[in-house]
Amino acid sequence: MSADAPLLEVEHLSVAFTTDAGTARAIEDVSFTLHSGETLGIVGESGSGKSMTAMAIMGILPKSAVVSGSIRLRGRELVGLSDDELREVRGNEIAIVFQDALTALNPVATVGEQLIEAVRVHRPDTSREQRRARAIELLTLVGIPAPEKRIERYPHEFSGGMRQRVMIAMSIANEPDLLIADEPTTALDVTVQAQVLEVLREVQRRTGTTVVVITHDLGVVAGIADRVIVMYAGGVVEAADVDPLFYETGHPYTSGLLASLPRLDRRSSREERLYQIPGQPPIATKWPEGCRFAPRCAHAVAGRCDVVVPPPVNVGGTHTVSCVRVGEWREEVV
Ligand SMILES: Nc1ncnc2c1ncn2[C@@H]1O[C@H](COP(=O)(O)OP(=O)(O)OP(=O)(O)O)[C@@H](O)[C@H]1O
Ligand SMILES: [Mg+2]
Repeated sequence: MSADAPLLEVEHLSVAFTTDAGTARAIEDVSFTLHSGETLGIVGESGSGKSMTAMAIMGILPKSAVVSGSIRLRGRELVGLSDDELREVRGNEIAIVFQDALTALNPVATVGEQLIEAVRVHRPDTSREQRRARAIELLTLVGIPAPEKRIERYPHEFSGGMRQRVMIAMSIANEPDLLIADEPTTALDVTVQAQVLEVLREVQRRTGTTVVVITHDLGVVAGIADRVIVMYAGGVVEAADVDPLFYETGHPYTSGLLASLPRLDRRSSREERLYQIPGQPPIATKWPEGCRFAPRCAHAVAGRCDVVVPPPVNVGGTHTVSCVRVGEWREEVV
C-alpha cells in the first residue's frame, strides 16, 4: 500500500433498522475519505446520523442494524468481519471517546487501576511498574496535574472536564491509528470544552493519531478540524476542508448552521436573536422525497429539489456539495 493511501475509506455506507413505524434508514450512502494524521469533523443536528456513522466504523452497531457499503481501514474491509475480528480492530486500531465520561468509567475502580488495565490489555508483556509508569505518562499527556497522586483516585473525585481527559487517556492507551470522539465536549461548560479540545489537539500533535470529532457545533470544528463533513437526515450534504466550508459555503443547510452560530464580532449580538433554521429535521422512517433539506430550505424549487436525493457536486478541489441549486441559490434574495 502506498504511503499516501487513505487511512479510512467509507463508501456508500448505509445503516437501516426495522421498526414498528417501518424501515428507519438511519444513514444512507455516506462516503468520505480520511488520511493519516488528519482531523475530521462530522457536524449536524441531532438525529442526522453522526453517531451511527461512528458506531458503524467501530463495529458496535446493534445486532438489528442492516449495514451495506464499505468501510476500509488501511485497505482492509471492516464490513462483514466477525465479532472477534472487530474486537481486535477496536483493541488495536480504533478507539472511541463518548460524551458521557462518568458512565463510561467504572465507579468502583480507581482511575489508575482502569488505566493500568487498559495498558495491560494492549501490552501484556509489560511489568506492573511499567504499566503504572505508562498510565502516569498518559495522564500527563492529557494534562492531568499531579498524575502520581490522581492515579489513586476514583472517577467521582474528578471534575467533568478531568474525567473527559481520563477517558481520552484510556482511549489512547492502545495507541490507536484512529480516535473517534463523539460529542466529547457537549456535557461540559464552554471553558472546559475549549480545554478538552486543546487536549485532543495535543494528543493528535504528539501521537500523530488521526482524529474524528463528532459535534453539532460548527464552532468546535472550526478550532480543531482540517476537514469537515456536514450531515443532514442520514446523508452527507457538504464535505470540504475547514476554510472553504466557512468561507465558500456551498449548501444552504451549512449556511443555516453558520448563521445560527453566536458571533463575537457582531456588535449588537446581545440584542440580536440568533438565527434558527425554520422547521424540524425529518425522521428516519419518513425521509422526504428528493433533497431531505428541501422542506426547510428557503431556496427549494418544486420539481427540482423534491425529485431525487442530490448527488455530490464537486465545486473545486475536494469540496463537494449535494445541492441541485449549488452555484445559483446564493444569488437569490429571500
Ligand atoms: N436502534 C435504533 N433503531 C432504529 N433507529 C435508530 C436506532 N438508533 C438510532 N436510530 C435512528 O438513527 C438516526 C441517526 O441517529 P444518530 O444517533 O446517529 O444521530 P446523531 O447525529 O448522533 O444525533 P445526536 O446529535 O442526537 O447524537 C436517527 O434518526 C435515529 O432515530
Ligand atoms: Mg450522536
